[in-house]
Formats: sequence, structure tokens, C-alpha cells
Amino acid sequence: MNFKLTDKKLNAIKADLEIIIVINKDLDHVFVQDKKTLEKAGFKASHGEISLLAENKRLYVGSESLKSGDIRSAVAMAIRSLNGTQFGSAKIGSYMSHPNCTAVLRAMVEGIILGGYRFDAYKSKKTPRKLKEIYISLEEYHSYELSKESCSRALLNAQIAANATNFTREIVNTSPDDCYPEVMASIALDLAKENDLKCTILKTKALKKEKMNALLAVSRASRHKPRVIHLTHKPKNPKAVVTVVGKGLTYDSGGLSLKPADYMVTMKADKSGGSAVLGLLKAVSEMNLPIEVHGFIGAVENMIGGDAYKPDDILVAKNGKTIEVRNTDAEGRLVLADVLCYAQQEVKSDYLFDMATLTGACVVGVGHYTSGVMGNSDLPVDMVLNAADKISGEMASKLIFNRYLGKTLKSEVADMSNISNTRYGGAITAGMFLSEFIDEAHQEKWAHIDIAGPAFVEHAWGENPSGASGAGVRLLLRLLEKLSRGEGH
Ligand code: BES
Ligand code: ZN
Ligand code: ZN
Repeated sequence: MNFKLTDKKLNAIKADLEIIIVINKDLDHVFVQDKKTLEKAGFKASHGEISLLAENKRLYVGSESLKSGDIRSAVAMAIRSLNGTQFGSAKIGSYMSHPNCTAVLRAMVEGIILGGYRFDAYKSKKTPRKLKEIYISLEEYHSYELSKESCSRALLNAQIAANATNFTREIVNTSPDDCYPEVMASIALDLAKENDLKCTILKTKALKKEKMNALLAVSRASRHKPRVIHLTHKPKNPKAVVTVVGKGLTYDSGGLSLKPADYMVTMKADKSGGSAVLGLLKAVSEMNLPIEVHGFIGAVENMIGGDAYKPDDILVAKNGKTIEVRNTDAEGRLVLADVLCYAQQEVKSDYLFDMATLTGACVVGVGHYTSGVMGNSDLPVDMVLNAADKISGEMASKLIFNRYLGKTLKSEVADMSNISNTRYGGAITAGMFLSEFIDEAHQEKWAHIDIAGPAFVEHAWGENPSGASGAGVRLLLRLLEKLSRGEGH
């Protein structure tokens, strides 16, 4: 899609279609030229409600408010509704409610690109993507002398953020037989080449040398050998050093503690955390943020077979701690344990985040649309929460550790068990398990983000299509953008 910002009034722009956002459920208070027709059609302008008046070449979409989060999702739903239509170009106003409010412009462009995403790589008949040109009229804001430059910047940042999110969605959606650890590594290498990032790949021999035995155990029964990926964006004079670790389970069958059939479907999305790291590094390098960012991905497949790791096995993680395996389906924390240790050994960072589709319990706790954020220190956790919601378009909720839940990870035979002995609080106990692998120097700098809910949802929601959402990319990108402006910490 090509975007053009223009000073021209909407009437003066030639396009196949005009997209009109109607704020406020009460249509009487808004001037709408097609009011009667819309009333006849029963259009109530509720959030995301669409009415296409094809003859008048106008598409109406309802939005709860003029806030960026609402604009982003409303516009996305409008664009999604055009799927399969013949419109090649569309024009839209900029809806910025106060001067210098380029946030709304950014949200709108993000919404258009995110809403336009479709995963049809495996469809033999693909619906052509007709909508190519988008004109955004800035005419309403002349009185504010809105700087064209800040608008152009907002447009560019929106394109980078949304395209990176779509890049992540595409990786996550790819079927597990086409996207296994080696493929993730080659995606990282290609990205590094294109975006001038540094990329190091660790294969089995190096993983053994690094004593990443927990990760190796999880990967053992798969015909696809594991990879640990390290991507670096290294600007001159960085304002901060940030490490982001992602769970990259290219498939999670559960292992010998095999998942029931219904729960196994969608587990191609267990690579969402790692895929978000790839998207994040793409965006960070394209924005050229003045932050040194290290992305680490543990890319592994959890399978069954004669060589599979077993419940009752005791693993020695990279930091020497021993783990009693009581459930091979709690594999993400084993992989992350080693990758977190490796990441901290390689980089002393100011902030350390990890993103993982770690627990079903997190989905039970906060629902499908929200990530759970936790850690030992409020600062990094709150940085994530502040980047969420109204700003990035992602939702996140704080979960709080406590020593009583911590005790439920005790093992009679090893330093800890890989599952807790209680049915409840599973998102938190998983997070507390990870904290055992955060060294003293990083404890106050670390936050864990459980993206099990939002990473993959089998229906469209807001600006997200059915399937992978790219959760984590926009969230951490906003955090890093704030950090590069000296805000947000
Ligand atoms: N990848 C799953 C978590 C998951 C569940 C992600 C649903 C997305 C949607 C993880 O590896 C897992 O299986 N966790 C277990 C942990 C349990 C065995 C302690 C779970 O959540 O049931
Ligand atoms: Zn699992
Ligand atoms: Zn998993």
C-alpha cells in the first residue's frame, strides 16, 4: 500500500472510495451526508460497525472515540471489510483532534496496514489485493499549522511498526513443517543482511559447549535440530542497552506429556515470542533507534519419540541449577532458562525482557486479548504496562509474584520442579520459575511477558485478523521508542 499525505481537501482528492469515521453512537449529533441512507440501513455507528455505500463511493465506520486505540481498530475493521472488493484507492481525513497529535495519524496508518493483512500463503486461490493507494488529507488542521515533517515521521513510523507486526504474523502463521528452528535461523540471517544487523546462530555443538542442557533435552526427539539466534542492533552512542529473549517453540506437541488433540492445534504459534523478537529487531533497525538491542531466540521443536526427554528426568541448566521434569509440556520455561542465562552471559543490559507463549493459565487469568507482565521489580514491569494500552494498541496486565507460590516449585530430588504442585496461579509460577535463571545483576531489570493469550486467536479482533497477531512487537517497540526519547523509565 502506498500512502500519500496531502494538504488537499477531501473533495479535491480523486479516489475510488472515501472512508468516513463516525464518532459517537448518536448519529444526530454528527454531520453525515448520507444520514438518511445510513439510518435506513440500520447503521448505529457502534465501534467497528461498517456500512458501505458503494454507489456513493463512501464507506462509513463507527468508532467509540477519536483516541488512537479506537481509530486504529475502527480503520482496520473498515479496511478488512474491503477484502475482495475492487477499490484500488481510498481517501480519508486525518481526524487529529488537537495540534501535534500525530499519534492519531500513526494509529490510523497502523490500522490500515494491520487491517489489510491476510494470511493466504497456503490458499491455492488468492484474493488479489486491490487497494493500493491511500490518500490522507491533512487539510482540516491548517489552523494548527501542523508540521508536515512530524506528520511524515508519524506515517513512516506507523509503516515500520505495522509492517514489522505483519512480518511477525506471517512467521507465526507459517505451518510447523515449513517453519522449524533452522528456518527461523535463516529468516534471522536474511533480516540481518537486509537491515544491517549482526546475527549469530548457535547450532547443537555450540549449545552443548554452552551447557544449554535444558534446551537440548526439549529438542532431542525432534528431527529438526535446535538453534539459538542472537540478533544485534548496535547504533553509535546508544542511550541504553536492552535485551529481549523470545520463546521460539516451532511446535509444541507437549512431548511425552502429550497434549490432548484439541489443545495441540494452534501450537505452531508457540514460536510467537521468538517471532516477535524478529519483528522487533526489524522495526528497531528501520527506525534506527538510538538503543542497542539484543534479540535472543530459543528455536526448538518439542516432539515425542524414543529419544524424547521424560518426566522424571533431571536436567542441569546452563547456570548449574538442577530441574526435575514432571511435565514435558512445561518446556518453554526450560528453553528460556538456558537462553536467559546465555543472553545475560553475552550482554550486560540495562533492561531485560522476555516474551513467551508460556502458559494456558495466563489466558485463563487475563483472557485472550491481554498479555501478563511480571517480574521481581516494578520498574521494568511498569515500563511494559505504560507502553501498552492506549499507546501501542496492545493490552497488558500485571501479575504479582509472591513467596508462597514460589514454594510450590519445590522438588524433593532437584533444585526445583518444572511445574508447580498447585493447579492455580500457573502464569505466576511459570514466571517465578524463570526468575531462578535471572542473575543478581539483572533481577531489577527484568520483566517477563506471557503473550499466550493475544499471540494467536482464531477470530479477528480489533486490528488483528484471525490467527497470529504479532503480539509483543508494537508493545516493546513503543517501550524502546520511549526509552530513546528519555521517557518511560
Ligand atoms: N505453549 C504452552 C502454553 C500455551 C497454552 C500457549 C495455550 C498458548 C495457548 C506451554 O508450553 C504449555 O504447554 N504450558 C502448560 C504448562 C503446564 C504443563 C504446567 C500449560 O499451560 O498447560
Ligand atoms: Zn508446552
Ligand atoms: Zn509451549
